[in-house]
Amino acid sequence: MPKPKVFVTRIIPDKGLDLVKDFCDADIWPGELPPSRADMLERGRGVEGVLCLLTDKIDGELLDAAGPQLKVISNQAVGYDNIVVPDATVRGIPVGNTPGILTDATADFAFALMMAAGRRIVEGERYVRAGLWKTWSPSLLLGADFSGATLGLVGFGRIGQAMAKRAQGFDLRVRYYDPGQPPIPELNASPAESLEMLLRESDFVSLHVPLTAQTRHMINAETLAQMKPSAVLINTARGPVVDQRALYAALKAHQLFAAALDVTDPEPLPADHPLLELDNCLIVPHIASASRITRDKMAQMAAENLIAGLKGERLPNCVNPEVYGGV
Ligand code: DGY
Repeated sequence: MPKPKVFVTRIIPDKGLDLVKDFCDADIWPGELPPSRADMLERGRGVEGVLCLLTDKIDGELLDAAGPQLKVISNQAVGYDNIVVPDATVRGIPVGNTPGILTDATADFAFALMMAAGRRIVEGERYVRAGLWKTWSPSLLLGADFSGATLGLVGFGRIGQAMAKRAQGFDLRVRYYDPGQPPIPELNASPAESLEMLLRESDFVSLHVPLTAQTRHMINAETLAQMKPSAVLINTARGPVVDQRALYAALKAHQLFAAALDVTDPEPLPADHPLLELDNCLIVPHIASASRITRDKMAQMAAENLIAGLKGERLPNCVNPEVYGGV
């Protein structure tokens, strides 16, 4: 029996790629950069499955170009704002993602960003490399205190909760804003009544919400003005959750102490972007989940979702279970 044809939009770790190659006739995009839209439309034509990344836009046009034999879309990411899920759902196509396995890696990294921006680690490193280090100084590169400070989590799902767990070891008081999410007693985090209250009280604000119409520009000029001038903003969620123009203005005016961004809008951030001129803005290239084991597991989970869809089985991790009816 011929193997099902699939398009894999990038070279993913072997843990996943080997599974895909064993089960499928796989067309694997060899480039370091994502396929263009034209390449996506062309290479997706006639396939039964697509394994894609968060850099690939999947919408009705692409699904129609692929054809009616398309059985599954598997995204190697927990976030799936690159996919117009309703377009897949109306076509009866299940969409898979990779939840859970990147929780610890992402929370570790968000915590690292919080420490780095709060304690000005990257600025310090640049200072040394620039040959500016002349003596020990009582007021050189003073940063934020952690013990006893308040960490405000916007979103208290898996990653937000993992942040709360880490915060305990640093004696941080933890508050969160996530309407409808009950407190978890062992995490010692209390819910804030409103985003405004959370922002007003927090010394560190870390974002852990998916990108949706409701969360786009949730952090904007108005909400930034509610934050303490000494506060640090950390974004490992999605770039457009923050209005970057407003963030630039707040950081430049020292209306906010610092920001640390793993995600930006757009990605990649152009090298001449104004945020990159600011010493109090730390920016890294969307690498919060980039630990070896995590990326292996993500690739494996994405491959398992793909293969389940090709077999006509329920995806182990499906974001639109409505396609199965009744659920
Ligand atoms: C995800 O999986 O959504 C992450 O952003 C990847 O790092």
